[in-house]
Amino acid sequence: MADRIGFIGLGIMGRPMARNLLKAGYALAVWNRSRPGIEELAREGATPASSPQDVARQSDVVITMVTDSADVEEVALGPKGIIEGGRHGLVHIDMSTISPAVTRRVASRLAEKGIEMLDAPVSGGETGAQAGTLSVMVGGKEETFQRCRPIFEALGRTIVHCGPNGAGQTVKLCNQIVVSLNNLAMCEALVFATKAGVDTRRMLEAVGAGAASSWALLNLAPKILDRDFRPGFKVAHQQKDLRLALEAAEQQAVPLPGTSLVHQLFAAVEAEGLGTEGTQALVKALEKLAGTEVR
Ligand SMILES: NC(=O)c1ccc[n+]([C@@H]2O[C@H](COP(=O)([O-])OP(=O)(O)OC[C@H]3O[C@@H](n4cnc5c(N)ncnc54)[C@H](OP(=O)(O)O)[C@@H]3O)[C@@H](O)[C@H]2O)c1
Repeated sequence: MADRIGFIGLGIMGRPMARNLLKAGYALAVWNRSRPGIEELAREGATPASSPQDVARQSDVVITMVTDSADVEEVALGPKGIIEGGRHGLVHIDMSTISPAVTRRVASRLAEKGIEMLDAPVSGGETGAQAGTLSVMVGGKEETFQRCRPIFEALGRTIVHCGPNGAGQTVKLCNQIVVSLNNLAMCEALVFATKAGVDTRRMLEAVGAGAASSWALLNLAPKILDRDFRPGFKVAHQQKDLRLALEAAEQQAVPLPGTSLVHQLFAAVEAEGLGTEGTQALVKALEKLAGTEVR
C-alpha cells in the first residue's frame, strides 16, 4: 500500500509540491502556519490537519518545506511538533534548505523515538516544483532513501543520494554557491552591456547559447529586462542560504571569497527594503554602483 503522506509548509515551493503528490495519487494531510494554504489544498483533495503533531499522527511519511533551521526545529521537535505525533517507523523528510549541523541534531533527536529522517533539499525553483522536475539531494540511510524514492520521483527528475544525514544539505549549499555566483556574473554582464550601449536581448541570445550559459542567464535575465522583480526565490532566502554556506565553511576553515562578496551585495539589496523581491534584484545593487539602469 502507498505511504500516507503529510505535508507541512505550503509556500511558494510547498504548495506545488503537495499538489504533485496529490496528482500522483497519494493520500495527503496538510498543515501550514497560515490558513489560506491549507484551504487551497483541501479544495484539491488534501485532508487539513490542525498541527504538525496531527499531520504526523495521520501519516507514514511527513515532508517539511519551511524556511530556516529554527523553523524545522520548531515543527519537528517543538510543542505539537512531529515528534509528539510520530510513532516508531515514521519517516520525516525535510526538503527545506537548512544547516547541515542542525539537520544532524534533529535527525538524532527523532531517532530516539524511532523516527527516521532524510534531509532532501531541492533545486529547480518554483517552475521546477510546479513541473515536478526538481533536483533532490538526499542525506540519510540508504534503506530509508530507497523506501522514499517513489515519493521523490513524484516531485523531481534528478534524485541523488549524497550520503548520511547532512550530506544533502551540504550539497545544496554547494548548489547555492554556484547559483549565486552565476547570478552575479549575469547581472554584471547586463550592467556592462547597458553602459556599453549594446542591445541586451541580443547579448543574452548570443551568450546564452555558449559556454557562459546558466540557469540565471536563461531564466532571471529576461525578468530583469522586463523589470519583473516578483520572487521565484526571495532575496531573504538566498541570504539565509549564503549565511548557512559561510557558517559551514568557517567551521571547516574554508575561505569562500566569491560567496562572501555576493552575500555583501545582497545585504545592500536588503538594506533598500527589497528582501522579499526575487534574487534577480541583485542587479539593483550593481546598477547603483554603476549609476545606470539595465535596459
Ligand atoms: N523558492 C525557491 O525557488 C526555492 C528553491 C529551492 C529551495 N527553496 C527552499 O525551500 C524552502 C521554502 O521556500 P519557499 O520559497 O517555499 O518559501 P515561502 O514561500 O516563504 O514558504 C515558507 C513556508 O514555510 C512556512 N513556515 C516558515 N516558518 C515556519 C515555522 N516556524 N512554523 C511553521 N511554518 C513555517 C511558511 O508559513 P506561512 O505561510 O505561515 O508564512 C510558508 O508556508 C526554503 O528553505 C527555501 O530556501 C526555495
